Amino acid sequence: MASLRFILCCVLVNCACATIVSHDGRAITIDGHRRVLLSGSIHYPRSTPEMWPNLIKKGKEGGLDAIETYVFWNAHEPTCRQYDFSGKLDLIRFLKTIQDEGLYGVLRIGPYACAEWNYGGFPVWLHNMPGMVFRTTNKAYMDEMQNFTTMIVDMVKKEKLFASQGGPIILAQIENEYGNIMGPYGEAGKSYIKWCANMAQALDVGVPWIMCQQNDAPQPMLNTCNGFYCDNFTPNNPNTPKMWTENWTGWFKQWGGKNPHRTTEDVAFSVARFFQRGGTFNNYYMYHGGTNFDRTAGGPYITTSYDYDAPLDEYGNLNQPKYGHLKQLHDVLHSMEKTLTYGNISTIDFGNSASATIYTTQEGSSCFFGNGNENSDAAISFRGESYVVPAWSVTILPDCKTEAYNTAKITTQTSMMVKKSNEAEEDPSTLKWSWRPENMDNFLLRGKGESTNTQLFDQKVVSNDQSDYLWYMTTVKFRKRDPFLGKNMSLRVNSTAHVLRVFVNGKHIGNQHAENGKFHYIFEKDAKFKSGRNVISLLSITVGLQNYGAFFESVPVGITGPISIIGRNGDETIVKDLSSHKWSYKTGLNGFENKLFKTESPSKWSFQSVPLNRTMTWYKTTFKAPLGNDPVVVDLLGLGKGTAWVNGNNIGRYWPAFISSSDGCSAKCNYRGAYYAEKCQTNCGEPTQRWYHVPRSFLITEGDNTLVLFEEMGGNPSLVNFQTTIAGSVCANVYEKNVIELSCDRKTISAIKFASFGNPDGNCGSFVKGTCEGSKNAVDILTKECVGKEKCSIDVTAEKFGVPYCSGAARRLAIEAIC
Ligand code: GAL
Repeated sequence: MASLRFILCCVLVNCACATIVSHDGRAITIDGHRRVLLSGSIHYPRSTPEMWPNLIKKGKEGGLDAIETYVFWNAHEPTCRQYDFSGKLDLIRFLKTIQDEGLYGVLRIGPYACAEWNYGGFPVWLHNMPGMVFRTTNKAYMDEMQNFTTMIVDMVKKEKLFASQGGPIILAQIENEYGNIMGPYGEAGKSYIKWCANMAQALDVGVPWIMCQQNDAPQPMLNTCNGFYCDNFTPNNPNTPKMWTENWTGWFKQWGGKNPHRTTEDVAFSVARFFQRGGTFNNYYMYHGGTNFDRTAGGPYITTSYDYDAPLDEYGNLNQPKYGHLKQLHDVLHSMEKTLTYGNISTIDFGNSASATIYTTQEGSSCFFGNGNENSDAAISFRGESYVVPAWSVTILPDCKTEAYNTAKITTQTSMMVKKSNEAEEDPSTLKWSWRPENMDNFLLRGKGESTNTQLFDQKVVSNDQSDYLWYMTTVKFRKRDPFLGKNMSLRVNSTAHVLRVFVNGKHIGNQHAENGKFHYIFEKDAKFKSGRNVISLLSITVGLQNYGAFFESVPVGITGPISIIGRNGDETIVKDLSSHKWSYKTGLNGFENKLFKTESPSKWSFQSVPLNRTMTWYKTTFKAPLGNDPVVVDLLGLGKGTAWVNGNNIGRYWPAFISSSDGCSAKCNYRGAYYAEKCQTNCGEPTQRWYHVPRSFLITEGDNTLVLFEEMGGNPSLVNFQTTIAGSVCANVYEKNVIELSCDRKTISAIKFASFGNPDGNCGSFVKGTCEGSKNAVDILTKECVGKEKCSIDVTAEKFGVPYCSGAARRLAIEAIC
């Protein structure tokens, strides 16, 4: 019966669905075959359903076997027992898209995700349940975790999506990297992990469960590795294959931070080394990072872009050469699948961090030559032949004779992405704005909220994370002849608000935001108080709730005090502590409640004297969708901080006024040596994030689209404009005897800007001729072969380009083609 179902389902869906998934110490076995599995993380709510087929297809074309995703509890259950699986949250549709593309799925239910996602994926209402402690043997927590996990498993089973049912999902995950932080939970942590394992196992999904970074993972959980390198990892059980659930292809970005890059050579090196040393499953985290729409960014301070320097960029464009170089690696690894998963392994140590690993079956052998030395190339002789393995690289020889791939030799094109202005508008750089103020009278003048208490509460407790904004308000009375009144007075707030805005009697006296990772600070500014009644209004603003660490759920946010008025009279200072005053609370802002971001919002917007640099201000404009299908971004340079909506869709928080520090960037990045998140950064001294993704599905092509901005700190919208982002030119820089394929991602190549065969210098965009060059005109040759075509393939040979006299140096062809 099982095999009949297998045959049927193969006919229907491209043959990547499975029925039986098992494993031994060597590999995951699917339907009787041990597999070398390449997988990539794509988180469904970080793109739109319209983007999913294309992203997944590009994954498949990039040589992936599987797509991995987390499931985000707080997105699906925003209020206890009220579920949302619509639109971007349509998990089943996402999994079916994976299936339709003929790929496998890896389902990381968690339900703790981390993932730079708001609160690590936990709902804040869960935290607010009595006696709640997350991720330990806490009855209330375990009940809720079990409830959610069971619900997801049931949904997926109902659609027959587990491999055991003929579906695509070959692995499921419970918890996430608990081993990294379990120390502080003591014995309870150990029991909790056992409970997680039993609970998951009892759900009977019919595919193996994984627990990443969990050295004490109880049987039959498979413990797996996460990190920049996992070749040294050994699972805790000899029957567990060596698996890598998160190979970080880049890194995430925080407000105030820079753009992290991980070189292509180093990612490829880490993967090849992992397979050299017995690995069988490698998942890229992220393969497509995408966008933190709405309030989904974690924190504190994770940016709206979650590009991650992944093989597919935020918008779904190929990030070249990363995408292409890894694709070639996948093809080579797949070609050796049998040898790698069944072969006998032997190694030769050449010293100086150079080694050979030979996988041998009766049919033949495959080899890896690794060189972990970051400074010197290795000269290796093997079976009578000599090979040079560049520093910090791995060479793969599927037949142990011919080099098919070296991680440091990139033969894939590089793309230079450019932004193009909006051709649908006559004058794309001038949009016509209307505006209106955020109405704060009730809070600033009357201190009137929706609940009161004589205690200062954490923001999560009061607002249940329904909004970034929480007003804390109180009134203070002074007698007429109070000796401290009027002179030298200040207001001091002990704050854990990510951003704080302070008003006294309706007057804005100052702002502060946490800087350099210090989310606990003291705000103190001069303030004028009058005799009689004074209103103090503090607006606490969150920018993504903490998503990582032991007991991270209790990291304070908001204003937990103390709060005091400081009065000075001569050399006397009086501190008036307001912490146990009657505080009035109000979650959210009026404009949000009145849905000013909706296109059809009828309220009064004025086209008259549109203000610049005005705080707490709403702006609105209309625009035409850029022509074509290229991804759309909106340039928000000039604005301060706030939220943006396109046709009522929240495209995320913006904060271009947050400039990253000017140090720690380098134009060149050395791929040699161990990578760390700060190693290769760009964008120093620039707005942390200037461009914001507007998915095509948010736009209408006929008629006007609406952009609404809520600006908190004051900004100038006059520079705002819509653009498209595409590959502007593609480059190659490859050694002789290679074949290079140039392609403008489904557009035609329009011109060859540079080409030289010899020893050209520089990088994509700045190539210059070297001291020697082939006798034939390389630009002419390439113009003939490539211009007007979507792609072209070029043999880099001296016959073709004419022999250059480069006094022995290896010869290269450098090309820049315009798309
Ligand atoms: C891991 C975590 C992921 C993600 C990653 C960093 O520790 O499991 O969810 O947060 O770090 O991007």
